[in-house]
Amino acid sequence: MSWFRFLIQLCGLLLVTTCTTTTDSQSLLSRSFGPAQQGRRASDYHAESDRGMVVAAHPLASAAGAAMLSRGGNAIDAAVATSFVISVVRPQSTGLGGGGFMLYHDQARKRQRIFDFRERAPMKANATMFINDRGDYKNVFFNGQQVKDPAIVGHLSVAVPGLVKGLVEIHRELGKLKLNEVIAPAIDAASKGFPVYPSLAKEIKEREQWLQLYPGSRQIFFKDGKPLEAGQKLVQSDLAETLKLIAATGYRDFYEGETSKKIVSEIKKGGGVLDTTDLRSYRMIERVPVSSYYRGHRVVSMPPPSSGGVHIIEMLNMLEQKDLSKLHPRGATYLHYLAEVMRRAFADRAKEMGDPDFVDIPTHRLTSKAYAKNLAASIDPQKVTPSSTMGLSAPTGESPSTSHISVMDQWGNAVATTQTVNYSFGSCVVAVGTGVVLNDEMDDFTTKPGGSNAFGLVTGPKNDIAPGKTPLSSMSPTMILDKKGQVELVAGSPGGPRIINAVLQTITNVIDFKMSLLDAVHATRIHHQWMPDTLRYENNALDDDTKKRLTAIGHALTPIETVGDVQAISRDSSGMIHGVSDIRSDGKPATP
Ligand code: GLY
Repeated sequence: MSWFRFLIQLCGLLLVTTCTTTTDSQSLLSRSFGPAQQGRRASDYHAESDRGMVVAAHPLASAAGAAMLSRGGNAIDAAVATSFVISVVRPQSTGLGGGGFMLYHDQARKRQRIFDFRERAPMKANATMFINDRGDYKNVFFNGQQVKDPAIVGHLSVAVPGLVKGLVEIHRELGKLKLNEVIAPAIDAASKGFPVYPSLAKEIKEREQWLQLYPGSRQIFFKDGKPLEAGQKLVQSDLAETLKLIAATGYRDFYEGETSKKIVSEIKKGGGVLDTTDLRSYRMIERVPVSSYYRGHRVVSMPPPSSGGVHIIEMLNMLEQKDLSKLHPRGATYLHYLAEVMRRAFADRAKEMGDPDFVDIPTHRLTSKAYAKNLAASIDPQKVTPSSTMGLSAPTGESPSTSHISVMDQWGNAVATTQTVNYSFGSCVVAVGTGVVLNDEMDDFTTKPGGSNAFGLVTGPKNDIAPGKTPLSSMSPTMILDKKGQVELVAGSPGGPRIINAVLQTITNVIDFKMSLLDAVHATRIHHQWMPDTLRYENNALDDDTKKRLTAIGHALTPIETVGDVQAISRDSSGMIHGVSDIRSDGKPATP
């Protein structure tokens, strides 16, 4: 490193240190966010480099991406390699049987592209497929056992997976390395296996009843009839073979060959509706990103059928009405305002959002400054606006499903991609002979009018099921660009609706409260999603005085374990790239 660069970095470090607020990493070390944190220090979640960065929710996945950068691959090679490995090592979160979104920044062309490879409803799906004549969920049985919520568990909940086609097509157009090179680390991880980590063991245990019911899943996630425990090895030989077929044939075998036949045969065993023609006709869709400016920084994010980008921009536009830098990031004044902003955006989510190829979405209005100004003016600083007075008539848990990957390469190209099988282990069905965990993405539609999904989210008729339609999502791969058009922040998260608020708070922590990326990601978060009408807060997010003040103005407060699992990258003015994995989970950044 040259002396000149060293001096610039030193000045940058001093500046960041002086600007950093009281949300210091030391106080975060004492916070407990669950098993992932055991034995790790806050600094273990941070890396820096001027040659590129990969941040993902498992060290094997980020290492695979960084290895592609070391070989001269670009951000797409790294993102695709990381995605295939995360599909192997986080079967509770995402996988070949799921789908996702990818935001790509092409530095040479100063252009962003959005790829939608989310699951779509099968052609035999319809708006009432989950309910009986009385409007209740239908009784569905498998091997004599009742599947209580057929939109979350079992064969009927499976939508047409898009992940394999998306990753292969994107790589074919934009990658530099060969497909078999970028898939090799995933084949390795599946065939040699890896130790089950505590949060994976916890999830297998939590979904034990259903994973045990379906033979394909029982074969993989159980040993001697018992759920795999932390420290035991998870080997996925069938998945390794499926990955080898992808390396050899691209997406052909998965959508038209042996793998597709095995998937359809599995679906038929449990009364599902996904068919060979659904797989054969699956299409990835390139969409136009949503973008806006927040305090002079350009924000680029995911458009519908995700609600994420629209509502991040809508909320930032409301937040822009106040000078947040004068407020404390954990004080009652800011948190009340933030919660009211969230409430308003999520009320719009329920009313307005769905698949833009099927229904009209007022994206322009929702992301306009004028609309946000009016909404912000309706916030009373002294009392809450009850959710029942806004929007639809209505009804949380956060699932550890979904996973986000952030990448930046030495040329300044960047990728933000969020991928999912929806709820933990998706439908809990593995197609026998493939190792593929099938998604339960049908639950992201309005499966029962007036009801809520696995995340407690209410959506309206715009999100009703229709053949070929894409279910509404919250996934929010997002980038912030500086005035020169270079990426200064890449971020995303899992967590259903909490995704949107986790990404939002990361952005405001960096831009308004001038936190370092490490502090911005690790700082405690809150979550409000309009319905249920409660302000959720993470362990230690609120001190007693703040709780008292928030309660006094009408907030119902509910403690929760975590809001999101952000994987983020920032690039400072000296060109140094910082990668941060969230202290809440199992991730680790890797550098080439
Ligand atoms: N399945 C969660 C989401 O797409 O938001």
